[in-house]
Amino acid sequence: MKYLIANWKMHDVDVERWLEQFLSVDISNSSLNIRISSNLFDMSKFIEAMPIENIFLNKPFWMAQDVSQNVDGAYTGQISSKILKKIQTAGCIVGHSELRENGDSNEIIYQKGCRLKEDGISPIVLCVGESLEILEKNEREIFLVNQLKSFFKNGLVPNIVAYEPIWAIGTGKSASIESINAAFNIILNFLKDINLKEIPILYGGSVSLENIEEILSIELISGCLVGNSSLDGKEFARIAAKF
Ligand code: PGA
Repeated sequence: MKYLIANWKMHDVDVERWLEQFLSVDISNSSLNIRISSNLFDMSKFIEAMPIENIFLNKPFWMAQDVSQNVDGAYTGQISSKILKKIQTAGCIVGHSELRENGDSNEIIYQKGCRLKEDGISPIVLCVGESLEILEKNEREIFLVNQLKSFFKNGLVPNIVAYEPIWAIGTGKSASIESINAAFNIILNFLKDINLKEIPILYGGSVSLENIEEILSIELISGCLVGNSSLDGKEFARIAAKF
């Protein structure tokens, strides 16, 4: 099973228009698990606009971009995994670099993962990825393994790992196939070392219609996490059609 996850971030997508664009492309031949990760406001608009379960392989399709590390209580602006469960959220991203930059430490990300696991939110998508500085200092392996190690502990295992090099996010400059392959191997070796079976690994970072075929030629890839190119429903559907 391949995954294609749109990451709408905080963009104010016109949901009705997006759906119109998305539905204008025939993706019936691609067997894909599609998720739209958006903020709650957009999600509710999406649900209102169209009960779309049938299109996305009969699965609920909306996914959260974040969750609180706290269980319950006076945390203005945060959303708990219990509330995500109530509204039938189909998964959640944790560890996105834009949230790491905003203060999410490895420990906080681990706690967020624990909350999602406790409430049975799935898939849990763990994002990992290095900065250009770390890549250039040849410290990528240590850095990625550290991010992974801090999450995979006490029985916590994400359902999906997304490799998203920070320097490729939103820059229009995707990582090269060799670089993605090398990072995937680091992740796979880590999984092997802790005796875990393979977990789907996605790539994210300037995925577009221009490079999707090349990216999908990577043997170990299980799908993509797409930011900018997911904001236009037609472009996103045309990417989906390549799977
Ligand atoms: P991008 O974003 O496709 O715009 O690079 C990817 C992401 O942040 O998940």
